Amino acid sequence: MKRIITALLILALLPISACAQNKQNMNNDNYKKVLVAYFSATGTTERAAKTLAAATGGDLFEIAPVPRYTNADLNWHDRKSRSSVEMADSKCRPEIKNVKTDIVDYDIVFIGYPIWWDLAPRQVYTFIDKHDLAGKLVVPFATSGGSSINGSVADFKRVYPKLDWDNGRLVNRIDAKGAKAWFDSLNK
Ligand SMILES: Cc1cc2nc3c(=O)[nH]c(=O)nc-3n(C[C@H](O)[C@H](O)[C@H](O)COP(=O)(O)O)c2cc1C
Repeated sequence: MKRIITALLILALLPISACAQNKQNMNNDNYKKVLVAYFSATGTTERAAKTLAAATGGDLFEIAPVPRYTNADLNWHDRKSRSSVEMADSKCRPEIKNVKTDIVDYDIVFIGYPIWWDLAPRQVYTFIDKHDLAGKLVVPFATSGGSSINGSVADFKRVYPKLDWDNGRLVNRIDAKGAKAWFDSLNK
């Protein structure tokens, strides 16, 4: 008899705890839908983007250039190389392969890129131009050979002053634990 009463009590309490769990998810930061968009010419930023997506439960989206960059395109010693020409023109918006048609679904959009000439590559501006990021938290992340992310974020704020920019982070050596700690600390 005692066992039957205990079993009945457990059954009666189950829906309450399931409800409490749902409510917790609604209030939890993790409930927010995360997109990790990135451009990467040689793979370093892509690795960081994958780490961030895994740690945040976010979806990955590659900002893919058309065509992809060759080594000659990336030669910053050559003033006529593709990257030099693009970066010398602040209005340049190189073509990207895809747009994210369901961007409206996301609350937090990470945008990753290599630092080029202290800025984000122009494809990243193409991505921002082609997606309505208003009302979302936009979080830049970058890899570099030594430069900070600050110049690139300052330029984003100048060109897109209405967006809600986080100050971003350089992520050359980010790991799963660091990515999770950063995500948890964001002002969401
Ligand atoms: C055209 C070009 C310009 C660059 N300019 C800078 C720079 O201004 N400062 C810096 O620290 N690194 C600079 N770098 C180095 C890259 O930011 C760095 O190697 C980055 O991690 C590459 O990322 P990826 O592998 O995702 O393309 C530049 C690289 C290229 C190809």
